Amino acid sequence: PTSYSGYADIVDEHYSNPRNVGTLDAEDDDVGTGLVGAPACGDVMRLQIRVDDDGNISDVKFKTFGCGAAVASSSYATELISGGSLEDAMAVKNTDIAEQLALPPVKMHCSMLAEEAIQVR
Ligand code: FES
Ligand code: FES
Repeated sequence: PTSYSGYADIVDEHYSNPRNVGTLDAEDDDVGTGLVGAPACGDVMRLQIRVDDDGNISDVKFKTFGCGAAVASSSYATELISGGSLEDAMAVKNTDIAEQLALPPVKMHCSMLAEEAIQVR
């Protein structure tokens, strides 16, 4: 189903009510920070994860200075990786995100941001 905005409802839903927005203490040794920018539009995304001793992601926060698709992609990505292993998180592909959110081709790079931010940390 699509809404007035032309995006799938799941995008609107994540955009209106983004999960895991915020900041973790970057000085903390258990926290990894990924900061990526999208050359296509100048948007920036920061994704932070806290990894516990077992290699699991115990906390994740993001901030996106970008379009609605970027916000929704980030929010969705944090839900995907939260509580999972670092390995699984690294395996997340932007195409999975874009497919789930039914992003149009012109917005593919918005989900790329989410994938790259996870990889960089
Ligand atoms: Fe704002 Fe692309 S125009 S994120
Ligand atoms: Fe560039 Fe969405 S992140 S238009």
